[in-house]
Amino acid sequence: MIGTFVTEAQEIIQDNLDHTLFSWSKQKGIDPIAVKRAEGVYLYDYEGRRYIDFSSGLMNVNIGHGNQRITNAVIKQMKEVSYVTPSCVTKVRGDLGKKLAEICPGDLNKAFFTLCGATSIENAIKLARLYTGRHKIISRYQSYHGSTYGVMSAGGDPRKLAADAQQAPNFIHIDIPYAYRWPHGDESLLKDAVASLEKMIAYEGPGNIAAILLEGESGSSGCFRYPTNYLLHVREICNKHGILLIMDEVMSGFGRTGKWFGFQNHHIIPDMIAMAKGLTSGYLPFGCLMVSDQIASKYDNMVLPLGLTYSAHPVSCAAALETIKIYEDEKLIENAIVMGAYMDSQVELLKEKHPSIGDWRNTGLLGCIELVKNRSTKEPMAPFNAKPDEMQVMNKVAAKIKALGMYTFVRWNFIFIAPPLCVSKEQIDEGLAIISESIRIADEYVLEF
Ligand SMILES: Cc1ncc(COP(=O)(O)O)c(C=O)c1O
Repeated sequence: MIGTFVTEAQEIIQDNLDHTLFSWSKQKGIDPIAVKRAEGVYLYDYEGRRYIDFSSGLMNVNIGHGNQRITNAVIKQMKEVSYVTPSCVTKVRGDLGKKLAEICPGDLNKAFFTLCGATSIENAIKLARLYTGRHKIISRYQSYHGSTYGVMSAGGDPRKLAADAQQAPNFIHIDIPYAYRWPHGDESLLKDAVASLEKMIAYEGPGNIAAILLEGESGSSGCFRYPTNYLLHVREICNKHGILLIMDEVMSGFGRTGKWFGFQNHHIIPDMIAMAKGLTSGYLPFGCLMVSDQIASKYDNMVLPLGLTYSAHPVSCAAALETIKIYEDEKLIENAIVMGAYMDSQVELLKEKHPSIGDWRNTGLLGCIELVKNRSTKEPMAPFNAKPDEMQVMNKVAAKIKALGMYTFVRWNFIFIAPPLCVSKEQIDEGLAIISESIRIADEYVLEF
């Protein structure tokens, strides 16, 4: 494959294509960006092209790329101790546990450290079942909780359908409608959503339900906002039936929605919080399951049957502790609120310009534009779980976004907008100009009636 005419970038890409597998993709026809370095909100390839990262990687690089404070914290920790078994303790593990207890509300004071989002939620499910002695878990169809067996089954994302026959049992899914596609008005939206949850619980038997598992704010399914006060009702229903409430804060946590955790926008306190992504801003793989004192105390005199070789990995703990300090020192959560409001105002202007924009849903800097063929009928520009031949328009939009120097997610008829929390107004303007130019392609397919 290697000839004198082959550039360094081509060689790197070819090695990756020849010898590695790519997630959620047909393996042929992939055209990845070879990233040489990354700084702040930008990625740079080997040809020196700059891409503005409008999805913070996989909505995880919340502090922005290339922050050398993390590099230094990690090196310092590695020089002292790189690994100890989870039965030993380190200063950094205790410091991180203490810090997380400080930022988590209520009596969520005990951290079980994991490796990623999926392992946080797998352990939450296991612990909820053990703690309650019940077996069923209720979760939302339009949600994603990871790709290992248990959490794949818990989620409702259609990426799991290929492995449908292998789903784990005892996961019950509910549909929570969202305002844009609910024709009967806000008040009935909440009433209907709560009533259908109550009905489902009655059918399944409240005494069989260990936990309700929900994202703190909806993420990759389409940033669907909960009906106002929905989570307050869910909390009450859980209290009434002795059901635990697990919030998946893997994507919505660590400032992404303008609060430490997405559920804080809804004035509730869960029994467990699953974290990953923003915990280390993706600088190292890591996760955490934060558990209430009440749940943890059951295991004071009983074996806690959870374990991972890399639980509380000291180097990941060091990355997480420094990441949390950066959120505080650089006031990134405050910036997410201000920049989120600016983003909202600017997308409103785009709506006036582009007839294909049907809806914009955003909390802090976790946002999504929904494109439609017709604003009255709301016919989507590409349907849910679109087949390749239904993605023709959206693929053109995505290709344009990339060609104009942006990295972000385009999924079905959604364009996700979730830049690092250090983003500035100028960078939002730069990114939205690219998105606006690309959406012009979709505008041409708007059907006038
Ligand atoms: C809400 C949510 N939960 C869980 C996960 C799974 O995290 P991981 O890929 O680290 O296992 C994701 C990943 O995107 C997510 O968005």
